[in-house]
Amino acid sequence: MVETLPFTSAVEARTRPIYDRLARVVPAAEWPLFAPYVDAINALKREKNAVILAHNYQTPEIFHGVADIVGDSLQLAREAERAEADVIVVCGVHFMGETAKILNPNRTVLVPDKSAGCSLAESITGADVRALRVQHPGVPIVTYVNTSAEVKAESDICCTSANAVQVVESLGVPRVIMIPDEFLAQYVAANTAVEIITWNGHCEVHERFSGMDVARLREDDAGIVVLAHPECPPDVLAAADYAGSTAGMIDYVRAHPAERVMLLTECSMSDNVAVEFPNVEFVRPCNLCPHMRRNTLPKILRSLQTMTDEILVDPAVIAGARRSLQAMIDVTSPRVRDGIARSS
Ligand code: 13P
Ligand code: SF4
Repeated sequence: MVETLPFTSAVEARTRPIYDRLARVVPAAEWPLFAPYVDAINALKREKNAVILAHNYQTPEIFHGVADIVGDSLQLAREAERAEADVIVVCGVHFMGETAKILNPNRTVLVPDKSAGCSLAESITGADVRALRVQHPGVPIVTYVNTSAEVKAESDICCTSANAVQVVESLGVPRVIMIPDEFLAQYVAANTAVEIITWNGHCEVHERFSGMDVARLREDDAGIVVLAHPECPPDVLAAADYAGSTAGMIDYVRAHPAERVMLLTECSMSDNVAVEFPNVEFVRPCNLCPHMRRNTLPKILRSLQTMTDEILVDPAVIAGARRSLQAMIDVTSPRVRDGIARSS
């Protein structure tokens, strides 16, 4: 049973600057439900010397209300590595919490809900990776960060959607295996001369978009700018004006002012981005990630109060997974890898 916290005048006053930022995307009638949690979480963060990292898909009251750092999965990994706080709360999905623990194992890493998974991470196991090595001897394995620590530990190098092409080309080989996202691998294959052996994992959110959606959208609205995440199928990416990571899409909107934009990705992101770009109309897709949605303000508060759900990774697995993650960080330019600090 989730406790209900009162919306007092003191809470209202302390959280007013946060609501002023959020007013475009959070109805006034909902703020009294969120504000007491925002206030309590921000106080508890200071008391416990905790930092909250939130992925771009978190809902606006988390993203703008309690997060200290926001970003795509690469940026969050980088920021987790440099975090000096005693406690790191990762508002995202399980593999993001694991990545934080792998890169900063001496901190306590918490996630608000340990059951927040990912269809890509679930599509492949360490045993699958070992079998691929036997099947393709000598071919390097590039692994999307949307995987378990065990899978990362069996790999040569990790990548995210922000740096996948850069990582593949850094290896200087004619052929690589890219796991587990088939569509991301096809996107990389279309943007490099390197031959890519794929795996058949898909994101359950992005695989639902189709090139037909984009065609219909453009028929109704010729001026709309369409940005798509590389986890979308190839016909979607071919029809989009730009393909890139969640952070890449935000950078694109910043650099190319437009009247109307559609972000073909998880739809909470449009709300978060709309706060920064009040003059852009974001046409929302309705695909939600059920795993990202497991995080709520009451769960974040509980997490800090009880110091759960803690992410623990076997030290032997940490060593291998860290090697793969570090190899990725070493070949990625700083421009694409640092998160955005929020003042909450
Ligand atoms: P980004 O690395 O682009 O943030 O993507 C993570 C993710 O899970 C997309 O579905
Ligand atoms: Fe995984 Fe897709 Fe959800 Fe991202 S949006 S966490 S890839 S299921």
